[in-house]
Amino acid sequence: MYLATVLPGLESVLVDEVQTKISEATIQETARGKVFFASPAPWGQLLALRTADNLFHVLGSFRVGPHRADLADVRATVAALNPVAGPDLASRQAPAADTAVPRRERRPVTFFVNASRTGRHTYSRFELAEAATRGVLDRHPSWRVGEPTVHDVELRLDVTGDVAIFSRRLTPASFRFRGRERYFTPAALRPPVAHALVWLSRPAPDDRFVDPFCGSGTILAERLPYPGRDVLGGDPAPDVLRAARSNLFPPPEQGLGRSIACTAMPPADTDGNAPGRLGPGALPPGCIPTPRLTLLRWDARRLPLRDGVVDKVVTNLPFGRQVLGPDKIDAVYRGFVAELRRVLAPPGEALLLTDQVDALLDAAAPLRPEPLFTLSLKGLHPQIIRLRQG
Ligand SMILES: C[S@@+](CC[C@H](N)C(=O)[O-])C[C@H]1O[C@@H](n2cnc3c(N)ncnc32)[C@H](O)[C@@H]1O
Repeated sequence: MYLATVLPGLESVLVDEVQTKISEATIQETARGKVFFASPAPWGQLLALRTADNLFHVLGSFRVGPHRADLADVRATVAALNPVAGPDLASRQAPAADTAVPRRERRPVTFFVNASRTGRHTYSRFELAEAATRGVLDRHPSWRVGEPTVHDVELRLDVTGDVAIFSRRLTPASFRFRGRERYFTPAALRPPVAHALVWLSRPAPDDRFVDPFCGSGTILAERLPYPGRDVLGGDPAPDVLRAARSNLFPPPEQGLGRSIACTAMPPADTDGNAPGRLGPGALPPGCIPTPRLTLLRWDARRLPLRDGVVDKVVTNLPFGRQVLGPDKIDAVYRGFVAELRRVLAPPGEALLLTDQVDALLDAAAPLRPEPLFTLSLKGLHPQIIRLRQG
């Protein structure tokens, strides 16, 4: 069984992604910030789950008592579990047994146990982690405890009430940052949250997709791997646009250069000043609909787009504290919603993230706003709100 962690509030989006992308997946359970599922799929397939923050292989689940004295049982039970059972991370293919530890270097295997605890217990999560650490050392006396961020094997013990789940982390820290250097502006979204918004828009090969407040381009970056016709983003801040450009048009040596061979649109100016125009166009027969990416400097209240040419708008609106003063929010939201109504082609839709919910609901009343999810994000509780055209 696998455990995928996710930002609280997005569990059902991840469930949908698991069921869509992972062969024969069965959801076992969901809890706050966690989705448990089983699948016979090769482990590498799981890396396609982009709403997940991290993936773990569940090594065992067992009962645990509430008292400090019960930690002896935790230690004994953990000692009976193989901490490297499950996928062989080196091969990303078949499950392997005790050999999924570095063989290339002749040094002791290092490991680290994190623990969490919910419920009434007389021990702390640190004592829980210590008990599990001792259990691992009982089983593997030659292993050494590593640093919190530097180790070969990362283990996790989650206790909720009287149930403990012991798991091994499969994904590196870079997984949720997409494994490469990126510029994140202060208000940037975490890529898995940006992906959840994109997933909710149900990416389709003929989509004309726009992020009108694109910032450093996190949402655009999550949309690009899916088939589509056009992906456009814009922002008025030149420094922010520079960050987006560097994130989305990385130098060729990073091997992430984008193909623009299959485009249905005439080339548009992407220097950040000249307006681009979406027009009607058909994909040539047999052309893979790799989305064509355009970044422009713009104000979302005056989009340089013709009426009714956009299918999906997905964005993270400016939040009061981070980007715009609260006095400006109403004006920007109203101006943007007016543009949205103009450029969205029926039955187009918009998925918007904001913590200025009242301002958006007021501005968007004619589009029958539908609040979908409330997230817990950096101490705020923004909502994902859907607007439909037509
Ligand atoms: C919450 S941030 C978007 C962050 C982005 N999703 C990311 O991950 O980097 C909002 C962005 O809206 C931009 N913005 C503010 N007023 C705007 C306007 N009138 N039109 C378009 N963008 C605007 C800001 O410059 C900021 O980059």
